[in-house]
Amino acid sequence: MTKYAVKTGGKLYLAGEYAILTPGQQALIKNIPIYLTGEIDTARDYQLYSDMFDYAVGLETDDNYSLIQETIAVVHDFIKSQGLEPHPFRLSITGKLEKDGKKFGIGSSGSVTILVVKALAAFYEQDWSVDLIFKLATYVLLKRGDNGSMGDLACIAYEDLVLFKAFDRAQVRSWIAEESLVDVLAKDWGYQIEIIKPALAVDFLVGWTGQPAISKDMIKHVKSAITADFLEQTQAAVKTAASGLETGNKELIKTSLQGASHLLKELHPAIYTEELLVLEGAVQDLDAVAKSSGSGGGDCGIALSFNSDDSQKLIERWQVAGIELLFCQESL
Ligand code: PMV
Ligand code: MG
Repeated sequence: MTKYAVKTGGKLYLAGEYAILTPGQQALIKNIPIYLTGEIDTARDYQLYSDMFDYAVGLETDDNYSLIQETIAVVHDFIKSQGLEPHPFRLSITGKLEKDGKKFGIGSSGSVTILVVKALAAFYEQDWSVDLIFKLATYVLLKRGDNGSMGDLACIAYEDLVLFKAFDRAQVRSWIAEESLVDVLAKDWGYQIEIIKPALAVDFLVGWTGQPAISKDMIKHVKSAITADFLEQTQAAVKTAASGLETGNKELIKTSLQGASHLLKELHPAIYTEELLVLEGAVQDLDAVAKSSGSGGGDCGIALSFNSDDSQKLIERWQVAGIELLFCQESL
């Protein structure tokens, strides 16, 4: 009997958060190689276990396991449409993206959803494209009423730095309500996912505030403050940051991310907490730029540093301020 193991990482927004909730807008999102692992093999009955919880379940309704169970249900519908017969398995998910019970905020629900899709693809020996994996996972979250942009899923599925262009989620939701899974998957949803290859050396640092924020609630809180001006200026900043990365233009990267950060500050006071302000301000006089990442209100901020001595200084300043270096990489 074959046992399969799959893994998925996390993600963090570099720029474009909140704006990306509007179709047509773009965001830059970076994959974070901190992983969840899924192990799956044949069993007599369905057995699902995640180390987020201290118990296992089958397919009977369970609130904690509903995301995993609904992902399985959607993927099984798809498996049947391919002329295959679903059969029981044991699925074990480990590597929770948290510490001492406090989540890092690098995309655990998106990561779990992609993980389950990938585990089932392996189990049923399906060679699905990354795009199909993204669409299946997105289908699950839209069906569940998730209020996010799905940019997290794009980044986690592609496991790379991506420039994601948002699609019309209301449109896809209405297709989900009216048409078959296979028909919905076959349509062009209108998103674009482009992998960005930076043309310069840059240290990428992630600072963790240790304060969990709930993106769903932040979105509810902030969404009505989004204006056409915010969208236009954020889009310009995202495009500039992407081209700065692709052409290796450090000044463009710095000014565009500072601009994106400023726009978030003006958008809503809940985004930049005291800790996130300190995280950002710590780059003062350094050859670096920092900002809040994602919904804000806690979780993580990111920094790009163009000089390794300055990276070290930044890490020390964060440490003094109680901001934990969650992740650091010598390239983007
Ligand atoms: O806090 P995060 O990393 O889940 O990012 C949320 C980004 C938002 O644009 C605010 C919401 C979304 O789903 O795009
Ligand atoms: Mg967050």
